[in-house]
Order: sequence, then C-alpha cells, then structure tokens
Amino acid sequence: MSKAGSTTSTAITGSGVWHPETVITNAELCDAFNVWVRRENDAHAAEIAAGTRTAMRESTPEFIEKASGIKQRYAADKVGVLDPDRMVPNIPDRPDDQLALQAEWAVNAAKLALAQAGREGKDVDLVVLGTSNMQRLYPALAIEVLDALGGTGSGFDIALGCSSATMAITLATESVQLGKARCALAVTPEITTGFLNFRDRDSHFIFGDASVAILVEPLAGARPGSYEVISTKAMARFSSNIRNNQGYLNRCDPAHRDDSDKLFYQQGRRVFKDVVPMAARFIGEHLASAGVAPTEIARFWLHQANSNMNDLIAQRLIGRSATALEAPLILEEYANTASAGSAIAFSKYSDDLPSGAYGIMASFGAGYSLGSLLLRRT
Ligand code: COA
Repeated sequence: MSKAGSTTSTAITGSGVWHPETVITNAELCDAFNVWVRRENDAHAAEIAAGTRTAMRESTPEFIEKASGIKQRYAADKVGVLDPDRMVPNIPDRPDDQLALQAEWAVNAAKLALAQAGREGKDVDLVVLGTSNMQRLYPALAIEVLDALGGTGSGFDIALGCSSATMAITLATESVQLGKARCALAVTPEITTGFLNFRDRDSHFIFGDASVAILVEPLAGARPGSYEVISTKAMARFSSNIRNNQGYLNRCDPAHRDDSDKLFYQQGRRVFKDVVPMAARFIGEHLASAGVAPTEIARFWLHQANSNMNDLIAQRLIGRSATALEAPLILEEYANTASAGSAIAFSKYSDDLPSGAYGIMASFGAGYSLGSLLLRRT
C-alpha cells in the first residue's frame, strides 16, 4: 500500500465518461446470435443427428439479465456485430496521420474530465493510458493523446486487464505525489467489442464500449468537491481463467492465428467463485490498513462485471446488501466496460457525497489483478 506522507497530497479533481451513441440491447444481440446458431445447426444437422456433434444452444435475454444484470451495451458499431455473416464490429483502419480510434475515445473522455477540473489540455503534463486491450504496440497511445490535447511532459501505456484503469489512476497519483507531474491524466478507452467473441454463447453479452478519464492534481489548490486520494492498494495472483492470447506472435503460427483463444474467453463460474472472496478480503485489508471501517464507507465504486458479484462483495464487507446508492451499478446501461467500470461508477456517482465522506474505488478481474483507491471528499 502506498500512502501520502512527506510527498505531495493529491486529489482527483475531474472525471469524465464518454461512450458511442449506438446501443445494442440484449434482445438484438440474442436475435443475431440465434440466427447464426440455427444456421450452424442446420449446416451440421447430419452430424448432430448421428451424435458426432453437439447442437449449439440459443442465447436468451432473460438469462443475460438474471446472470449478470446487463440490459444493453454501447458499441462502436452494431451493423457488423448483428450481421450473422460477420459478428464483428465494422471499424475501418485509419491512415497514420489521423488520430487513432482509441486515442480519439481517450481525448473525448479527457476533455470532459479537464472541463470538470477547470483545466485545459495544455495544462496536462502526464498521460497514463490504461486499457485492457491496446489498439497497437507503438507509438504509445498516451503520447498521441498528450499531443492531441496540446499537453507537454510524458505519457505511457499500461495494460493490467480489469485493473488497467485503477492502476493508471494509481500511477498518475504517485507521479503527482512524487512531484514528477502536476496535472496527470489517467485515461481508459475500452473498445471492448473489438475483442469480444460474438459467437460464444457464454460471453457474447458481457462487454460494452466506453471511455473514462480521471484527472489527478496536488490537493493544495484542488477545486472544492475534489476527492483526496488517501491511499492506494494493488494485488495480483496469476490465473488463466480470464484470458486473451491476441498478440504480435500470432502471425508466426498462421494455423492458429484466428483461433477463438485470440479473443476474450473465461471460465466465468470459476472467476465468480475465486474473485468474490478475494476482492472482499482485499478491500477489507485496504480499509483496515487505513484505519477506516467498511461501514464508514459512503460509496463503493466497484468493478462492474456482475451485479450478483458486487452484492456478495458488499455483503461480506458491511454484513448486509448495499443499497443502490452505496454501491452503484452501471451494468444495466453500459454492460461490463472491462477496466473502465469502477472509474465510470465513480464519475457518475460522486457529485452528491458530503465533504469528509469516504468512498473506495475497486477493480478485480483478469490477471487476476485487483486495485483500489481510498478517497475522501474535500
Ligand atoms: N443464454 C442462455 N443460457 C445460458 C447462456 C446464454 N447466453 N450462457 C449460459 N447459459 C446457461 C448455461 O448453459 C447453464 O445452463 P445448464 O446448466 O443447463 O447448461 C446456465 O445458463 C448457467 O451457466 P453458467 O455459465 O454457470 O452461468 P453463470 O450463472 O455463471 O453466469 C457469467 C455466467 C459469465 C455471467 C458469470 O459467471 C460471471 O459474471 N462470472 C464472473 C465473470 C467476471 O467477473 N469476469 C471478469 C471479466 S472482466
């Protein structure tokens, strides 16, 4: 755990959420998926009848909502996703002299965070871009974002699965604490529909697209209503239960380049069982080390993968279910936005707390990776 001591105290002075306007409902997603399933089963009817192949099963909106709490998701493109012949979003390549799509989404969210903090792009002196899946290897997207905003200083990308956003905010915070930056932007553009396997019944409904930005500055001079960063915590335990083998070496083995393991896949039930106790213990330990009781926390901005998971984690921490305001959910509207979820929950549900109130932002998932920030409203 890192704690502000003789270093500069920091605060989150602004945040912003941007998402594409296009919505895909559970019903639309299932309709397209089920057309594809029926086609596949028709095409392999003889093998299915002979018992040499298992018939694929259809997906239902009822299951999706009950199992996860998701009702819809925003998407970069729905035409390609809902076309049973394609089931991949249409995202055209851009020439190198145009802003990359992921950088564009980062800038969209960054502008909102800067406006809330009363800052301009030229004030930014560090961009930490953290996302579960990076559009390219280099040049770093963070540097492109810094340039597009008109900022100075430096920028770097980090990838930590579901904890990419909380780690980006932590690194931005530590840079300000150490005096290496004074206006540090942590930004998380999650174009999740690009890595989602829309032909996998177990996971085709999970993700949605969105971008979130958080601005960190010295506490002294922070606008009233900012959130002081009291302490941060991170933890990792290796697991392949959530995995994506997409990478630059894929082309070296053309026979397996397009296999389904080059997209997101998971053992969802195992993840659920592993992560609920792990996340509850992790958050509890963070609070204990800061001398704050879970019942003193006015708001839990939790990772947004599954509403049932969040309910169980809250129950373990405070001994009862959290109310909708104590542990807000964005899943219904956004679905799982990979690492962006807890930061989006923070951005959308942080205006109403009184001065002095504690809140904790916490992520948990792929890696396994966990990250948390204990915050107090100024
Ligand atoms: N439509 C209809 N039924 C479905 C379905 C779908 N799309 N997908 C699965 N089912 C069925 C299964 O076939 C199974 O029925 P069966 O026992 O008759 O075969 C039943 O629903 C339960 O399946 P299961 O896979 O055990 O579902 P679940 O309750 O575990 O929910 C997740 C699945 C993914 C929503 C849930 O496990 C989860 O959210 N896990 C945590 C994942 C996580 O946090 N990941 C981090 C990513 S950032």
